[in-house]
Amino acid sequence: MKILTERVPAQRAQTGLLVLALPAGDSPADVAAVDHASGGRLLAEARQRLDDPTRRGSVFVFQSHGMLAAEAVALVGMGSDDLTAVSAWRRLGAQATTLARSHRLSRVAVSLAAAPAGAARTNAAGATAEGALLGLSGVRSRRSKPEPAGPEELLLVGVGPGPAVERVLKRARAVGEATWLARDLIATPATELPPAEFARRAQAAARSVGLEVRVHGEPELHRLGMNAILAVGRGSEHPPCLIELIYRGGGKRRRPLGARHLAFVGKGITFDSGGLSLKTPSGMEIQKRDMAGGAAVLGAMVAIARLGLPIDVRGVIPAAENMPDGRAYRPGDILTIFGGKTVEVRNTDAEGRLVLADALAWVSAGAGEPEKPRFVVDLATLTGAVSVALGREVAALLGTDRGLIGDLLEIGRETDERSWELPLIDEYLPGLRSDIADLKNTGDGGAGTIFGALFLREFTGGLPWAHLDIAGVAWADKARACTPRGAAGFGVRTLVALAERAAHRRSRTATRARVSPSPAARGSSRGPSGRRR
Ligand code: BES
Ligand code: MN
Ligand code: ZN
Repeated sequence: MKILTERVPAQRAQTGLLVLALPAGDSPADVAAVDHASGGRLLAEARQRLDDPTRRGSVFVFQSHGMLAAEAVALVGMGSDDLTAVSAWRRLGAQATTLARSHRLSRVAVSLAAAPAGAARTNAAGATAEGALLGLSGVRSRRSKPEPAGPEELLLVGVGPGPAVERVLKRARAVGEATWLARDLIATPATELPPAEFARRAQAAARSVGLEVRVHGEPELHRLGMNAILAVGRGSEHPPCLIELIYRGGGKRRRPLGARHLAFVGKGITFDSGGLSLKTPSGMEIQKRDMAGGAAVLGAMVAIARLGLPIDVRGVIPAAENMPDGRAYRPGDILTIFGGKTVEVRNTDAEGRLVLADALAWVSAGAGEPEKPRFVVDLATLTGAVSVALGREVAALLGTDRGLIGDLLEIGRETDERSWELPLIDEYLPGLRSDIADLKNTGDGGAGTIFGALFLREFTGGLPWAHLDIAGVAWADKARACTPRGAAGFGVRTLVALAERAAHRRSRTATRARVSPSPAARGSSRGPSGRRR
């Protein structure tokens, strides 16, 4: 999809479908002008057909029959949404491409005049473009007669070209296309995407943006002592691997990662049958999505590299297929995780926390690099219980650092990838004790999402850490605001925004340190994400 900008009045925009935001209260100038050009018919008909065309989410499509430069106009109710904030525009952008697609129009325009001119409008343009890309699924169609693709052109009306607009559009493209990459991987049937193929796809995507990829295969996993990844993958014909993505944005290439690097970990179970603790048929139907955390980490790393953020990031994806077989790992097995802790396997279907334990212990130790990361965030389709607790709209967020959790909650609201915090209740920890090993991989009843996170915490080496359980949100059975039905790519936007925040704080810190080199301006007074406490 081409994205163009034009500073013409909305009524003169040449396009197939012109989308206008219609907030409650007085009509914005663009709506008034288009209404005027239609001889007052646009609003009159909208009010006649709909109880309240300004209601959030309501859509009225008007055929212009030559009265306007656009073939049709869509009035989209914005309710009392804040039109100075990006999330309303992101949703509007998604609605624009969805509408264009369903009306089979190749060109769509969105008028930005309802956003205040200046920085707010520039940001609205970026958010609209991002939403427009997100509104298209990005998943390769597998029907014999492919469904209509989205529009070929998006026109943003009311902003001109210029460096600020170029910058937000570049970001929109990077985030949107990275989300498509993640969605397409998640939607790919598990038979077509064993761990090695996931790794090849990661290499291909990374190569085009100058991201370094290392794939650690079985022999390497043995050498490193990643016995949980090996055990989980042993029942499959397709060997497991650990996919490592390295982005060195904080200066020279080919140097070790610095102490301020960020670490992202994503669960990459390419198919979860449950293993010998076999799932039910209905529980298994949907388990190709069990690598959604890994796909989000890959997408975010690709976007971060495309944007050239001035920060170092390490992304790690433990990839394995969990299958039952004569060689499969068994309930009762005892595994030694990277770093030495032992785990008694009670249930082979609690495999995500096992592969993540190896990966988290490894990145938290800063293994292979001179320094440990500043913080670790993992994304995982970890528990069915999270949908019971929170449903299908919000992810569960658990972690050990208030600053990091605060950032992620705020970013979730800004990006429309919402999360809600659940507590890490220490009193439940004894429920993970094993009679024979350090830990067992299941809790002792209830609070499944909390037990999963408590287990993971044991492998984070005391570093600031946050965990997003995305099992409920990785796939949209019903379309969400910026997510069509199907694979969601949840987490790409969140991780990119988190890296941007960290990079921004880092550069501010550097400036301040140069101006006034007081020790108080350095690490000690800051939270782990660089924020002042
Ligand atoms: N991959 C599943 C969780 C899941 C469920 C993801 C539904 C997407 C949709 C995970 O590996 C799992 O099986 N979790 C178990 C843990 C239990 C055995 C402690 C669960 O939630 O039942
Ligand atoms: Mn499982
Ligand atoms: Zn799983």
